[in-house]
Amino acid sequence: MHSPNARKPRLRPTRIHRQLGFTVDNWWKLPHRREQPPVAQTDQREAGWIVTERTLDSGLTYLDYNATAPMRPEAREAALASMETVGNASSAHRSGRDAAQRVDEARRQVADLLNCSPGEIIFTSGATEANNLALRAAHSVGGTVITSTVEHPAVLETAKNLTATTPDALRLLAVDADGLVDIDGLHAALSAGDVAIVSLMAGNNETGVLTDLAPLAEAAHAAGALFHTDATQMVGRLPFDLAEVDVDLLSLSAHKFGGPQGVGALFVRRGIALPYHPLIFGGGQERGWRAGTLNVAGITGAGAAAAAAHRGLAEEIARVARLRDLLESALVEQLGDCRINGSLDYRLPGVTSITFHGAPADAVLTAMPDVAASEGSACSSGAPSPSHVLLAMGRSREEADSTVRFSLGYASTRADVDQAIASTIRAVRQVRAALAIPI
Ligand SMILES: Cc1ncc(COP(=O)(O)O)c(C=O)c1O
Repeated sequence: MHSPNARKPRLRPTRIHRQLGFTVDNWWKLPHRREQPPVAQTDQREAGWIVTERTLDSGLTYLDYNATAPMRPEAREAALASMETVGNASSAHRSGRDAAQRVDEARRQVADLLNCSPGEIIFTSGATEANNLALRAAHSVGGTVITSTVEHPAVLETAKNLTATTPDALRLLAVDADGLVDIDGLHAALSAGDVAIVSLMAGNNETGVLTDLAPLAEAAHAAGALFHTDATQMVGRLPFDLAEVDVDLLSLSAHKFGGPQGVGALFVRRGIALPYHPLIFGGGQERGWRAGTLNVAGITGAGAAAAAAHRGLAEEIARVARLRDLLESALVEQLGDCRINGSLDYRLPGVTSITFHGAPADAVLTAMPDVAASEGSACSSGAPSPSHVLLAMGRSREEADSTVRFSLGYASTRADVDQAIASTIRAVRQVRAALAIPI
């Protein structure tokens, strides 16, 4: 039998939970088990977004696309079709060749999304592996790693690990209050010389803030360094044209744009001087860069998701941005004492990071169990710590702890936004009122 702890969500009861009536025994049950009326799917169909009943848990308004997006129907169909056939993409017989053809098609679909050549795509288990592969290969012959204080841990921790015995070989670029990297800071970091790689993310996972990559890549190249971008949050959500932006290496993850989890890719620009340094040795798959039998089902799902995202991109950007703006303005106007984090001019269309002053995010989220959104803190280790991104932008610990990230995507609807507005307003007011009560 499972103990309640086995199903306990990551939040821990705090003073605010108790003030809201949740005890150590029931705090995790109350909100998460409550039945909610199903959200109508009709407007999604009217908008042309066919989302099956299974995609979204009825009763849950899902606004956590930066964590993972619901799988696109096209991706599910493609992955299932691959699962229903047998074949190792490395086998020479007909079923092997069939599997290899499916992988080739997916590679072409991912390459089309980025406007690069299929031969420049290495499939991986996700963006974490792609980031590791890029940084470790570039650094394998020594040199300095330059990255920023607001990167995802998949870059930050890799960079720290690579330079653990030579801490001077890691240079972290600061960001301003809007979360933007300053090119002068990069020039200063490059001026010390011997730089192996500059790695700067395309879109921030917590705030959605975008980086203007072209001038930064140009500066890195002028100093003889490779330029990598973790584009996990941008690919499939905004156009990314690799013929226009001169990055050498780019990481992506399929599950952020409606593909399966556990599949990603590293783009390696043809002709760059990347030292050969795979992480996984074995067979010669992926031109020796990533040994192991290919995940044909996952890869074909990723390809189909890339094609679907590509087809609907222009319309999706405008639609999702409108929904995000609606959510954001309603919350700010009706709740007051809020702050939107990150540049309003350079942001992913579906993301808003909002600090609700006086309302700790864990309590707010607990009080609105019908909405899936995220805290602005990093809890993956089980020990909540304030968001390093928000702290790097100059926010206080209290502000970081009172921040909620809503992230919308291809299947988000007006009904989702209306539900999220109503629930968030109720929850923030409830938490603020509870905290105002002296104990
Ligand atoms: C910016 C960024 N980089 C890397 C990752 C890791 O991606 P994956 O889950 O594919 O390992 C994420 C996932 O949240 C992310 O947001």
